[in-house]
Amino acid sequence: MTAASLPHAAAPLSTGAAAEPRGYRADIAFTHADFTRIAAFAHREYGLHLQESKKDLVYSRLVKRLRKAGCPDFATYCNQLEGDGGAAERVELISALTTNVTHFFREEHHFTLLSDLVLKPQADRLRAGQRMRIWSAGCSAGQEPYSIAATVLELLPEATRMNIRILATDIDPAILARARAANYPAEEAKGVPDRLRAQMFDRAAETSAQVQVQARIRGLVHFAELNLMADWPVHGPFDAIFCRNVAIYFDKPTQARLWQRYAALLAPGGLLCIGHSERLSGPATAQLDSVGITAYRRNASPAGALGPPGPDVPTVP
Ligand SMILES: C[S@@+](CC[C@H](N)C(=O)[O-])C[C@H]1O[C@@H](n2cnc3c(N)ncnc32)[C@H](O)[C@@H]1O
Repeated sequence: MTAASLPHAAAPLSTGAAAEPRGYRADIAFTHADFTRIAAFAHREYGLHLQESKKDLVYSRLVKRLRKAGCPDFATYCNQLEGDGGAAERVELISALTTNVTHFFREEHHFTLLSDLVLKPQADRLRAGQRMRIWSAGCSAGQEPYSIAATVLELLPEATRMNIRILATDIDPAILARARAANYPAEEAKGVPDRLRAQMFDRAAETSAQVQVQARIRGLVHFAELNLMADWPVHGPFDAIFCRNVAIYFDKPTQARLWQRYAALLAPGGLLCIGHSERLSGPATAQLDSVGITAYRRNASPAGALGPPGPDVPTVP
């Protein structure tokens, strides 16, 4: 996606009606009504919170889509988006309005907490065949779940034979295809701690330009498409959930609901890691105790009225 930037995008251009803002095409108008319709749709379907101050940014991102879709104006584009045949364009919309920026071991302290608070205390239980589930929600191109898998394998080299699964989900099928390919520019390998680099990438598949994540790391991760605003066909409890730099796009009530849904799915003592500029809010604050920077553990207070989780996703046994 494009704009982790959206909430923090560079200074917005003028939104006044009098002057045509820079970047506007004379032949394609973007009225207040057009913006409101797009914003309402993005909020309803994806939880995105598009402020009026981002109107020009939204225009510049979407006008390219209009051209590609052959739409003469935004009203036609919205009709297409909202119509039965709009599924493919809806994916393009979310992709245009958000960003996929990520990297290996982003906020490395979260991986240390995963190891110290979740993996080490449960190592014996796991060796005895017990189950562990970790979820990377909003996983983008896969660097986050692969970093989780490398952390697991560092402590438990036999993890591929254990009952450990990492579920990695994102709304964007194109970014999930890249995640599954597990092939990255060699430059990105620098983000992996020195001690783990040799275990992370496949030497035989390496070129000067590209690195390939090792098969045993890939084998722990199960990718699936999932819109966090829709039903979650996932089966808890989870021992850890990473949802970092995703909720930043959502408004406050949507964020609070999201944290509450995670709290309901976490096992007692389970770890929740969120993005560096995100804050816990709502009922979940009573269920999650801070254990570090933007990291929380599920305490013993009742889950609230969310009800039991749905059935398992087929890709996650
Ligand atoms: C900035 S990336 C974060 C990647 C990773 N978690 C990290 O922190 O490095 C945000 C990701 O959230 C995904 N996303 C945005 N809205 C979503 C939604 N409603 N449901 C699921 N994923 C969403 C985007 O497709 C994108 O890949």
